[in-house]
Amino acid sequence: TALQQTEPRATIGVIGGSGLYAMEGLADVERVTLQTPFGAPSDAYVIGTIEGYRVAFLPRHGVGHRLSPSEVPSRANMYGFRMLGVRYLIAVSAVGSLREEYAPGHIVIPDQLYDRTKGHRPDTFFGGGLVAHVQFDRPFDAGLSDRLEQAARAAGATVHRGGTLVVMEGPQFSTLAESEENRRRGHHLIGMTALPEAKLAREAEIAYAMLAMVTDYDCWHPGHDAVTVEMVVQVLQANARLAQDVVRRVIPLIGDGFDSPAHHALATAIITDPAVIPA
Ligand code: ADE
Repeated sequence: TALQQTEPRATIGVIGGSGLYAMEGLADVERVTLQTPFGAPSDAYVIGTIEGYRVAFLPRHGVGHRLSPSEVPSRANMYGFRMLGVRYLIAVSAVGSLREEYAPGHIVIPDQLYDRTKGHRPDTFFGGGLVAHVQFDRPFDAGLSDRLEQAARAAGATVHRGGTLVVMEGPQFSTLAESEENRRRGHHLIGMTALPEAKLAREAEIAYAMLAMVTDYDCWHPGHDAVTVEMVVQVLQANARLAQDVVRRVIPLIGDGFDSPAHHALATAIITDPAVIPA
């Protein structure tokens, strides 16, 4: 019943969002194409050495941005990372801001998620006779978030620690009424891909934290035009170097690793009687 694991190849993973389709400056690069019991991941994993550590990189939308947020195969992606041995995953994501102080170009390390996807996305490895309920009150790993914050500050970014990221289905952006309601609810950021990814990382016992790059003020801000893809891409292109620099700096801070509660997520989560699990 344990996740299948091949020879470990990397303990640190990076999943790149819109605008981050490859990592620069990787040495000794291997491309690994995986099949998982949950289908094919978004693309081949690119494994290379950064600052002396093996790091596995995957572009969430595929090279060339072929997969919409609803189509990203998050079960395969997270299963594949775990097959490679990944236990620490940095998720890079473009997000809209619902707060004046979180301006385009800033980096946010969010600490909460709010699920407004529509239930279209397969979001668990369990079911079919194996019942598990992992804890998810703290969706992001605190130790990994600390290191990400330190790396982002060292890179000279304007960094905000904490905030709630509401995840919508998309692919359309929000209406003004929805954007205003998200603000009234106290959410800080909006995106389309952190869920179910973060839930599946938890089920795979991978510590997960997010480097959210603010690209726009969604559509609520009276002083800014409503978000367009062009706006998102432009801000990302201007900040791609910064994102890469932060990722490069966080790798040695993770180093050989540290204990995380996420690494024990299944210890108290599986309720199916092991005696009746088919071999
Ligand atoms: N990703 C980047 N900007 C966004 C927005 N305004 N809404 C949803 N997802 C986004």
